[in-house]
Amino acid sequence: MIKDFDNHLPVRVRFGDGVAASLPALVSGQGWSHVFVIVDEGLAAHNPAVAALLEELAVTASLTIHEKPPGEPTIASADAACTALAGSAAEVVIAIGGGSVMDTAKAARSCVQQGVDLTTFLGGERVFPEPDIPMIAVPTTAGTGSEVSGGAVFTDPARGVKAGIAHPNLRATWAFVDPRLTHTMPPAMTAHTGIDALAQAIAAVIARVSTPIGDAIAFEAVRLIGRSLTVAYRNPLDVDARSEMMCAATMAGLAMNISDCTAEHSLGQAIGGLTGAPHGLTVGLVLAETLERERHQVPELLERVADALGAPPGEVADGSRCVDAVRRLLQDLDFPVLSDLELTPDDSDRLARAALDDYFITMSPATWTFEEVRAAFDSAFSLARR
Ligand SMILES: NC(=O)c1ccc[n+]([C@@H]2O[C@H](COP(=O)([O-])OP(=O)(O)OC[C@H]3O[C@@H](n4cnc5c(N)ncnc54)[C@H](O)[C@@H]3O)[C@@H](O)[C@H]2O)c1
Repeated sequence: MIKDFDNHLPVRVRFGDGVAASLPALVSGQGWSHVFVIVDEGLAAHNPAVAALLEELAVTASLTIHEKPPGEPTIASADAACTALAGSAAEVVIAIGGGSVMDTAKAARSCVQQGVDLTTFLGGERVFPEPDIPMIAVPTTAGTGSEVSGGAVFTDPARGVKAGIAHPNLRATWAFVDPRLTHTMPPAMTAHTGIDALAQAIAAVIARVSTPIGDAIAFEAVRLIGRSLTVAYRNPLDVDARSEMMCAATMAGLAMNISDCTAEHSLGQAIGGLTGAPHGLTVGLVLAETLERERHQVPELLERVADALGAPPGEVADGSRCVDAVRRLLQDLDFPVLSDLELTPDDSDRLARAALDDYFITMSPATWTFEEVRAAFDSAFSLARR
């Protein structure tokens, strides 16, 4: 029998090549005259589609533009966004960028409504009221699915950890998902963000809270990623591959929100907390190693993931086809290995403790032991190259 589940995913998604150009019409149609835009620092300078969007928005409304500094969002950078938003008197928040920008916008909107910054919010009771102004997410990477999720993740460099907040009221009101905004992503970023989407889709299928609705969305995301990620990596201007990757990333975000992430995200976030390395890179460094453990728990589900990835048929249905397909994909993407970061096998214990302290690993199909987590890190460290 199918287990009970609830779904509530209210983000209005507008998807397609060029849809960002219709955002100014939404702004004027809603009668918003003052818009707070949060965007990646310097992104407009090398992304003509983002520059054009900002120009059109400036014709439509008065803009307060806040540039998020490079790197994954920290509690301090979110505090700075809160201060800027609080002083803007804006009627709507528009986030244009990757997961870092969208997450910062979600936290800033909720905190400012409550008259606090993120530092104060995290130290308090952590309530998430119904938002008093709308937010529009405009992703420029094809990876996190943050445009449809109710999560936001921040690094605390002082403690060397990444910590998330999540609530339905953090979600954007609209998502304008325009693959053209991703054409400027360089190959390595395409690989990192695309692998993050793949990891979310697979996790949505194997998590202990998976549902048939989430599975349906996740398997199609896996299929699209299997046929388009390497193409987009090799040819950044392939419009079909970019389109399929963008759609897959939003679908993986939806699937992950209906279900959850699993151990790969906890091990990845442990690496990210210690090194500050890009999120998708950290998840990809341990994706095959965590799936190697999960295939013993849910072989039949990983067989279906292997089919969605287009893996050739195998002799035994033990999930190893999925692990092999993921390893091949990482190889095709020239994906780095764990020892390329400034970490050594001596860090395995510390990484394992951080991963076990994280939430996502509790959503894996069966409880991970400390030894299993450390073995996954050791296995990732043992790779000299893909
Ligand atoms: N909220 C969620 O549901 C969720 C899910 C997964 C990850 N995350 C978080 O999202 C963050 C990672 O987001 P990300 O992977 O999208 O990367 P990112 O937002 O950190 O961006 C990485 C870099 O890419 C640049 N960039 C963005 N778009 C570009 C483009 N089109 N062309 C060229 N450069 C571009 C940015 O300027 C930035 O320097 C992490 O903090 C992670 O923890 C959130």
